[in-house]
Amino acid sequence: MYIINQTMKTPLHIQLYEELKKDIIENYKVGDKLPSIRKLGSIYNLSRTTVENAYSQLVVEGYIESYPRKGYLVEDINVSTFKPKINLDNKKEKKETWIYDFNPIGLSKNTFPIKVWKRLFNKYIDEKTDLGAYPNGQGEENLRIEIAKYINKARGVNCNAHQIIIGCGFTNSMELLAKLLDEKYDTLSIENPGYIMAANTFKSHKYEIKKVSIDKQGIKIDELEKQDSRLVYVTPSHQYPTGVTMPISNRYKLLEWAEKNDGLIIEDDCDSELNYVNRPIPSLQGLDKSGRVVYIGTFSKSLSASLRISYMVLPEHLLDLYHNHYAKSFSTVPLMVQIILEKFMKEGHWERHFRRIRTMNRKKHKLMKSLLIKNLGSSMKIEAEGAGLSILINPTVNINIEKLKKLAKKEKIKLYFTKDTCGGDWDTIRMGFVIFNEDEMKVAVEQFSTIWYKAME
Ligand SMILES: Cc1ncc(COP(=O)(O)O)c(C=O)c1O
Repeated sequence: MYIINQTMKTPLHIQLYEELKKDIIENYKVGDKLPSIRKLGSIYNLSRTTVENAYSQLVVEGYIESYPRKGYLVEDINVSTFKPKINLDNKKEKKETWIYDFNPIGLSKNTFPIKVWKRLFNKYIDEKTDLGAYPNGQGEENLRIEIAKYINKARGVNCNAHQIIIGCGFTNSMELLAKLLDEKYDTLSIENPGYIMAANTFKSHKYEIKKVSIDKQGIKIDELEKQDSRLVYVTPSHQYPTGVTMPISNRYKLLEWAEKNDGLIIEDDCDSELNYVNRPIPSLQGLDKSGRVVYIGTFSKSLSASLRISYMVLPEHLLDLYHNHYAKSFSTVPLMVQIILEKFMKEGHWERHFRRIRTMNRKKHKLMKSLLIKNLGSSMKIEAEGAGLSILINPTVNINIEKLKKLAKKEKIKLYFTKDTCGGDWDTIRMGFVIFNEDEMKVAVEQFSTIWYKAME
């Protein structure tokens, strides 16, 4: 007996369709005949059109087929007939909730240009968009052209669209690179402290990882020279995590090292355009004359971390190798996202958006700095500031860090420590500022200072 409720908001044909579908899945065999439209209508007091609509939906979805002189017969629907062997009651994953979250990598959801994005979607995604095809492995050419223009102008990167490979985030680009280079290199030198994901990706591809210290000039080139390595990962324009900028003299030395050793430099330039004090310094890739730099950038720090779009620029001499390895691969970034981003850039929205974000971040950075000074005074030292999405601090007094962490958890204040993403000994607390509006930031820093003083010994 089917339950059809004439007073429910759900249309009658949908109710009937749901009941029939359940019945077919649970009780019918292939070739079984369904009741005629007239019979079903009269049993449940439904109009002919209502029953016809329910049957047509089942036909469209392949559950039944209409045969002349036979009526509606059940089709082979083996995909839906599996009896689940696991309990499908979806238990929600436990998510910790925070009242104050000093997130140093995510962006505020309010800054994503959603109206423009939706407008571009409506304008450019339509029946002509080939959503049946796999997207170009290297990324859509038109998007690559826009990215090439942008990094050329904003970061001094010398490249053409054919050198760019679009990926779904830094790690994806690094994965690809690790596979590409594994016949030529077996060791990766990385900055210490440095971004743990860079090391982890290459480690998982069996590269030996060698750490090179950094000082106020960035990676220590004399130390690098002593290592038996020809491949190095650096963040020269805004060292992660210390914030150091590698001066031009050292950039040339690093390039010389690469030339002398038939080496390669991986330049991670993830947030270098977000400089609030100085003009952003041009990329290392832009100084390179002999194809010694692979450049990686991302849209995560100023547009959206959830879109998952990064780009990698390969030197010309690696392109054949790339095409040999990846000729049959498909892009990891959905076509729709690529098309909209291309139009977003081409129509000038990206430039406007970026200026707006940088101005907004600059103000938030200034506010965070003044709030930290006001609330924590000389009990803390600023270790890195002036760029990116966070200010890094350390205590100058005795703070019991374990106690601070416990208090933070109790008060639902989410803190971020450099050690978690860098390994090693160097540690700071990363005070992310872009996620807050001004009022939220004031309260958040006040609450943080309360637990800070409680953790003081
Ligand atoms: C130094 C560094 N490089 C790269 C990235 C990753 O960017 P993506 O969002 O493209 O994976 C991050 C993320 O925080 C980062 O800190």
